[in-house]
Amino acid sequence: MRFLVLGASAGGGLPQWNCGCPNCRDARSGKIAAASQSSLAVSLNGRDWAVLNTSPDIRGQMMACPAMHPRDLRDSPLASVLLTNGDIDHIAGLLSLREQTPFTLYATAEILQVLAENRVFDAVNAEKVARQTVRIDAPFALLPGLTAQVFPVPGKVPLFMEGETVQTDLVGEQTVGVRLSDGDTVAYYIPGCADVTADLLARLADADHLFFDGTLWTDDEMVRAGTGAKTGRRMGHISISGSEGSMARLAGLRAAKTFIHINNTNPVWQPDGPERAQVHAAGWTVAADGMEIAT
Ligand code: MLT
Ligand code: MN
Ligand code: ZN
Repeated sequence: MRFLVLGASAGGGLPQWNCGCPNCRDARSGKIAAASQSSLAVSLNGRDWAVLNTSPDIRGQMMACPAMHPRDLRDSPLASVLLTNGDIDHIAGLLSLREQTPFTLYATAEILQVLAENRVFDAVNAEKVARQTVRIDAPFALLPGLTAQVFPVPGKVPLFMEGETVQTDLVGEQTVGVRLSDGDTVAYYIPGCADVTADLLARLADADHLFFDGTLWTDDEMVRAGTGAKTGRRMGHISISGSEGSMARLAGLRAAKTFIHINNTNPVWQPDGPERAQVHAAGWTVAADGMEIAT
């Protein structure tokens, strides 16, 4: 499997338009690399690609990536899209893919329901872009020879659909992880996850490569940075650090591991910082836009 990180950042990107935090300032000045909102492309043959989540940045992401360029008058190497939840940073890019070029759109019934309830997505012509419902744990061919399966991970409904009270550890069809296999190697894509449960840990045992939610370093990071009132837990994202964090909880896996969907406040963005050294020491890489990974 060939992976291409189209975008490494969480919703908002790095820098985020309205943010003057140290990381956003450094990304604006070019001191650290900027990053677009999370999306991962995968291919077996380098010609046909599937994209996991379509971020609002997808137009620029595809432009920056020669493998995604049209090879004919009206054409795209994009064969399919799979959505892991209904958040804006994962679905809004569909609106940029509305120009009558066919691909297949895969998602759970609940995530497809989010699209159905928001009529602007009718602009993505269903006659060209077939919406295929995927069932939990039922294997399907995301590309010829590439088997995908989705499974529930703890999460919540999309931010824009939250009601008065919000359950942040829902396990169902609204937030899923993806298992990918070419029959030889196995990779997982989990850009949003509220908790590493025993079930999830057991499931990931066969991973050769894991792309995992790296939103925050600490749960109260945004509160302390003064950029927001919400904790990671409230947003449905487990933190990287700490005894209950993802780095500790996933330490036993034999997989190569990459953090993705990283919020702009996360100190792990700093290439020379102690947090980056710590994740490297624990065997993780930090995703960056344009990063290529082969399994
Ligand atoms: C998230 O990952 O929590 C969402 O992207 C939040 C948002 O929609 O801004
Ligand atoms: Mn997000
Ligand atoms: Zn910022």
